[in-house]
Amino acid sequence: MSSQIQAVRGMNDVLPAESVSWQHLEGIVRELLQAYGYEEIRVPVVEHTELFKRAIGEYTDVVEKEMYSFIDQGGDSLTLRPEATAGVVRAMISNGLLRGARHKLWCIGPMFRHEKPQKGRYRQFYQVDVEAVGFAGPDVDAELIALTARLWRRLGITRVKLQINSLGTAEARRAYREKLIEYFSAHQQRLDEDSRRRLHGNPLRILDSKNPDLQQLISAAPLLTDYLDPESQLHFAALRAALDAMGIEYTVNPRLVRGLDYYSRTVFEWITDALGAQDAVCSGGRYDGLITQLGGDATPAIGFAMGIERVVELLRQLPSQPQAPAADVYVVLNGERAAVEGGRIVESLRDALPHRRFELNLGGGNFKAQFRRADRSRARLALIIGEDELARGVGALKPLRLESGQSECPMAELPVRIEAALRAADIQE
Ligand code: HAM
Repeated sequence: MSSQIQAVRGMNDVLPAESVSWQHLEGIVRELLQAYGYEEIRVPVVEHTELFKRAIGEYTDVVEKEMYSFIDQGGDSLTLRPEATAGVVRAMISNGLLRGARHKLWCIGPMFRHEKPQKGRYRQFYQVDVEAVGFAGPDVDAELIALTARLWRRLGITRVKLQINSLGTAEARRAYREKLIEYFSAHQQRLDEDSRRRLHGNPLRILDSKNPDLQQLISAAPLLTDYLDPESQLHFAALRAALDAMGIEYTVNPRLVRGLDYYSRTVFEWITDALGAQDAVCSGGRYDGLITQLGGDATPAIGFAMGIERVVELLRQLPSQPQAPAADVYVVLNGERAAVEGGRIVESLRDALPHRRFELNLGGGNFKAQFRRADRSRARLALIIGEDELARGVGALKPLRLESGQSECPMAELPVRIEAALRAADIQE
């Protein structure tokens, strides 16, 4: 026997038992986004490496060490997308969709980051990504956050908390960056290797460090809030007022800086205490400078992405779980002629009752085996087609979860009788 091939580390199969929760989540997300006026966009999983370097930033963990990059047969450096924002913005620019227009977009799909896999952190993971392009805010900032708050309510998820911060404009951040470099340089001997590396490239990321030895130094560092430009201060105050007015609870976390370089002004993150170390379930912010940085007309924008695996895990912890839909009718076949005719009959029933789920017995088996399968399909009704029934031009119906017995009806009446029997079963259950 040849050896088995394993899945790539950090890349998961979503098996049918789990995909029910995925579909439940995706269904609600789709419905909600549509209700808020967002349209779906689909962009490639692979883009030019240069796109992510320019958008996400050279000194970020993602670009420095986590990208799945490769040279293709044509000699181009390509990368499996580590996130969706860069690709969505690239698509807007390369399809000429900006030019002062406004777009509310969303997409869903796998992202790839070569991180150290652990619970809630994978190398292939799925995001729902939402982007509002052409909106200067802060009204849209508040509406996006309200959308996410509504999503948790719709899903029944309560163990999430909102953190917000403002990163100010790029200029304000530059001034703050100098202050931080000054501060951390004065304490260089207390920095760890990662932070020393970030000191000149991306000192804001030091604030994000999880190293317990650095926490004291970090908490005494200058605060970005004190360096915000007046306009960003107003923007942030208006966002807070809008959230207060909508009754959305939040904390202002002045250390929330995010791991991607394109952010300006509003940033936010929904975190949970139910998933261990990987506590961010939904994160995003404003990226007013990114579109020009990628060669488009200056356009303000904001967005967020939600990690599907993490939200599914939160759903799994809830007392009631979404169930896979059961079959309505299991079609039991008896005899050779029935095996041939069964397919034709069930197809015509599917034509007549397209909203009902029929499961045709496949692969033969005696009566007992077929009724066992019918049981497993959770169908409420069995349709029995046998040699004898075919000869008489009838089908037999047997409710599977009620005490009432088997009855026969002419083939032509089957759709009406099946529909009535299913409705009766629904009422009595
Ligand atoms: P991000 O914070 O890098 O932002 O990722 C967003 C979400 O994706 C996280 O909150 C988390 O739930 C999930 N996530 C990230 N990495 C992993 C991983 N390795 N395994 C499982 N889940 C993960 C972005 O990607 C931005 N593009 C969001 C955005 C959109 N900002 C503006 N527009």
